[in-house]
Amino acid sequence: MRISLEEAAIRLQNGEVVAIPTETVYGLAADATNDIALQKIFTTKQRPADHPLIVHIADISQVAEWVTDFPEVAVKLAKTFWPGALTLILPAKNHVSRVVRGGEPTIALRVPNHPVALELLKLSKLSVAAPSANLFTQLSPTTATHVEAGLGESIPVLDGGACQVGIESTIVSVAVDGQWQLLRPGMISEVEVAKVAGRPQKKVAESSKVAAAVGTPKAPGQHALHYSPRTPLLLFKDRAALLDTSEQLIKAGKACAALLIGDGDKPRCYVMQLTKQPAEVAEQLYGALHQLDALKVDRLLVELPPNTPDWAAVLDRLSRAGFNKDT
Ligand code: TXA
Ligand code: MG
Repeated sequence: MRISLEEAAIRLQNGEVVAIPTETVYGLAADATNDIALQKIFTTKQRPADHPLIVHIADISQVAEWVTDFPEVAVKLAKTFWPGALTLILPAKNHVSRVVRGGEPTIALRVPNHPVALELLKLSKLSVAAPSANLFTQLSPTTATHVEAGLGESIPVLDGGACQVGIESTIVSVAVDGQWQLLRPGMISEVEVAKVAGRPQKKVAESSKVAAAVGTPKAPGQHALHYSPRTPLLLFKDRAALLDTSEQLIKAGKACAALLIGDGDKPRCYVMQLTKQPAEVAEQLYGALHQLDALKVDRLLVELPPNTPDWAAVLDRLSRAGFNKDT
C-alpha cells in the first residue's frame, strides 16, 4: 500500500512501521525510541531479536543524543560520507533502547542520502530504526514493488523510486581510541574509509582492544542464507564453468537462468547481463536477482566478478546469496 510523506510521518509518530526509501535499499522504519514500535519491525521481518538495527538520523548534530563518545576518526568519517551509505557503530548511551541495539553496548547510526528519507526524518521529528524491508534471510528490496512482493500488499510503503546505490551501507565500528573495523563491505570502500580515518583498520586478530571498547561486534549477515533468493543459486568464478553446468542442467531436464557480468558466450537459457562497472552492478544486483527468482527455475547460475577491492561489496552479497544453497 503506497502512502504519502505526511501519512508516513503520522504513522511513525503513532508507533507503526513504514517501509521507506533510502539510497541503499528500502528500510522498514519505526520510531527508534519506541520499544513497542521497534518490536513490530522484528515481528514483520521475522528477524531474531538479538540482531541490532541501524538508526537513521537527520544530520550529524544528532549523533550526541545516541553515543557516549564520538571519536575524532568517526567525526571525520561522518563529515566526509554523510549523508551517505556509511553506518557508524559507536558506544551507546545508557538510555538507548536495548531493543534497537539488540542487547549490544553500541549503536549503529547513519544519515541516509535520499531526499524523501531526509524529508521524512525532518517532518516526523523522529530518528527511525530501519533494517532492510525484507523478510529475514530474503533478498533486500530496491523498489517499492520489491517491498510489497516480500512483505505483502498491506505493508505501508513510501515510494521514493529505485535505490541508486542498490546494496546495503558499509558498516564501520569505531572504538573510543579511534581504532576502526569494517564489519560489512559496501560501496564506500575500505580504502576510502582508511584514507579519511588516517589509519588502516584494526586487524581482526589484534581486535581485543576494540572489542573491549565497543563490545564484540556481531558479524552482520552471519546467517548462511542472508540475502538469498528462493531459487538455489550457484556461483561461478569463470564463464566456461558456468556454461558447462548450464549444459548439464539442460540435459538433465532442469530449467536454469543466468546472471552474467560483461560480454562473452551465453548459456542456452534466460540470461541477464550486467556491465563490468561495480557501481552499476551494485545498483542493479538485487533487482536482477528478484527478477530471476520470479522465473521459478530450478537453478540460478551467477557469474562472480573478479576478486578485487572495487568488487568487494558485490562479491560479499553474492557469496552470501549463494552460500550452501545447492544442497
Ligand atoms: O543500507 C543499509 O544499511 C540499510 C538501509 C535501510 O539503511 N539497512 C540495513 O539494515 O542494511 P540491516 O538491519 O538489514 O543490517 C544492519 C546490520 C545488521 O546485520 C546488524 O548486525 C548490524 O547492522 N548492526 C547494527 N547495529 C550493530 C551494532 N551495534 N553492532 C554490530 N552490528 C550492528
Ligand atoms: Mg538486511
